[in-house]
Amino acid sequence: MAQLWGGRFTKETDKLVYQFNASIEFDKTLFYQDIEGSLAHSAMLCKQGIITDTDKEAIEKGLKSILKDVSSGELQITDEYEDIHSFVEANLIKRIGEPGKKLHTGRSRNDQVALDMRLFVRKEVLLLDGLIKDLLETLLNLMEEHLETYMPGFTHLQKAQPVTLSHHLGAYFEMFKRDRLRLRDIYKRMNYCPLGSGALAGTTYPLDREYTANKMGFIAPTLNSMDGVSDRDYVIEFLSALSTIMMHLSRFSEEIIIWNSNEYSFVELDDAFSTGSSIMPQKKNPDIAELVRGKTGRVYGSLFSLLTIMKGLPLAYNKDMQEDKEGTFDAIATTKDCVLLFTGMLQTIKFNKQVMEKSAMMGFTNATDAADYLVNKGMAFRDAHSVIGQLVLTCIEKQKSIEELTLSELKEISVVFEEDIYQAVSLKTCVERRTTIGAPGKEAMEMVIRMHKEYLAD
Ligand code: ARG
Repeated sequence: MAQLWGGRFTKETDKLVYQFNASIEFDKTLFYQDIEGSLAHSAMLCKQGIITDTDKEAIEKGLKSILKDVSSGELQITDEYEDIHSFVEANLIKRIGEPGKKLHTGRSRNDQVALDMRLFVRKEVLLLDGLIKDLLETLLNLMEEHLETYMPGFTHLQKAQPVTLSHHLGAYFEMFKRDRLRLRDIYKRMNYCPLGSGALAGTTYPLDREYTANKMGFIAPTLNSMDGVSDRDYVIEFLSALSTIMMHLSRFSEEIIIWNSNEYSFVELDDAFSTGSSIMPQKKNPDIAELVRGKTGRVYGSLFSLLTIMKGLPLAYNKDMQEDKEGTFDAIATTKDCVLLFTGMLQTIKFNKQVMEKSAMMGFTNATDAADYLVNKGMAFRDAHSVIGQLVLTCIEKQKSIEELTLSELKEISVVFEEDIYQAVSLKTCVERRTTIGAPGKEAMEMVIRMHKEYLAD
């Protein structure tokens, strides 16, 4: 049990208490950030004349050797230390002696952990952003490929009007694009450096907080030391953004699961991205999509957990805040995995064009357009609505789609029908006539795709 605070105590910590208190098992994730923060801190201490050049050089050398040995596996991060901060400091002192004891001047573990967590989350925001960009590129490729893949658009999961697969996927493009914008906002808002906040009330040493903030790529130091050590808003915002990303992935997963069912057969999953059953040889299960849908709950859990941890905390630091880490690390890793795997699944999925098109035809998704046809021939819309209602009934009886009826069958329902009805209710016509901004018509879609390309190239 290597502890940083023996002086005031006359008794050893109870073993269970020690274990209960310790966080090394999970905050070892912050090792690289802890080293980065310590390097910046010691450089600043030296620049301000708080430690000597010689001390600073020894500290730097020591920290870098620890970094190297942990990276190579030569030095293990073990649970004989309470947390990652104690691990680094103890090993530093072990390696360089006296100067190592000066590193913590003007610093507390409270601002140290606040900094480490910020550095970590900031890095992860960018990594995730890159993964979502890959997903957007995959979606855009599919959108270009499927401008004329017709399919039913649904409301209430009932076939409503025809759209294209390009248009359907385009809806997800919008969602994931907004997710990236959210990440960018969070990055900007969180990019302030808490180092130098001390335990809660700053410090009497002449620290140069702007220097360290600058050195680590922050916009500026945080402006209130109590807030500096106790703010976890940015983690909550990030978890909320992760939850939204997962919610989007989960909706998409649900659709893939439905489309992959025997009844729909809109898609075929690649063998590499699905699994079979140990007993039922005919099965090809959409496990990736199901797991993504399932793991969404887990990411929401981390968000609710941190909101709940924070809600009753008086200023400034409280040990409760140590509980911010496991859920956050898990939510980040989970979301990254899900985005990555989902992208891979989309890159290999096969869309059954014919089945989708047939489904749109058999679902009377062109019924609105058939009514519009009659209106264009001079019939009032209310009457047209009723005529098409009868027409649909006839089709159901005969198990045919509208365009499969002969002209004389059509004329039995209304004499207004002419040969040009077939052209008017073809899926292609129905979709291509929808050319306003945001509509599924090819022309409108091509314009949007051009805009997306510019956005991704930026
Ligand atoms: N392991 C602690 C955490 O994650 C580090 C800060 C400890 N500070 C303290 N005063 N005990 O929050």
